[in-house]
Amino acid sequence: MRYLTFVLAKGRLADQTLAMFENIGIHCEEMKDKHSRKLIFANEELGFRFFLAKATDVPTYVEYGAADIGVVGKDTIMEEGRRLYEVLDLGIGRCRMCVCGPESAREYLQHHELIRVATKYPAIAKDYFYNKKQQTVEIIKLNGSIELAPIVGLSEVIVDIVETGSTLRENGLAVLEEICPLSARMVVNQVSMKRENERISTIIRELKTFLQARQEVNQ
Ligand code: PRP
Repeated sequence: MRYLTFVLAKGRLADQTLAMFENIGIHCEEMKDKHSRKLIFANEELGFRFFLAKATDVPTYVEYGAADIGVVGKDTIMEEGRRLYEVLDLGIGRCRMCVCGPESAREYLQHHELIRVATKYPAIAKDYFYNKKQQTVEIIKLNGSIELAPIVGLSEVIVDIVETGSTLRENGLAVLEEICPLSARMVVNQVSMKRENERISTIIRELKTFLQARQEVNQ
């Protein structure tokens, strides 16, 4: 049997995904060993392989077929714009993509002024301002601690992920506009979806059933 290969975005999301997969009988004991330096883990019995990658690389592995299935945030999927199928919302890692800044920047947005927007997500920011809002802006790419930008005067606003909102609050910033809700999604390589249709469809169906049952319990 050919291995079905999964790539998971490193970190909390991977832990939550593995915990969810256990509910449908997909286990990978080896992967739980936090001290291991191994990069790839197999469950011979099930014919599954797993590896972890930096979130932004997950869609790349899946597009090229180095992994059949990936789990990654909607933010990364939107930003990377890779050719793949997004098949399931796993409902974990829920947060929002927002335009944030000091309250004083609200009027720049209302008046569609030519402002500077700092972000780790230039494609998402560009799509939002140019296509949805029809506002011309200057987009400045940063790689982290985006909230610093309006504080030190690099930009008027930022486009960033807001989860609890505490980073914003602690830095005197606020959500000015919401772009979209985010959560972890399962993505599938387009060729794998055909070649391994039976196995992949079974995983999707079982996860859907699990998610529905969990939702009913929580209602
Ligand atoms: C993310 C995001 C915000 C923060 C939001 O940053 O970019 O800074 O989390 O979370 P909160 O609303 O719960 O405060 P992350 O910690 O991933 O690191 P980064 O700043 O390097 O992007």
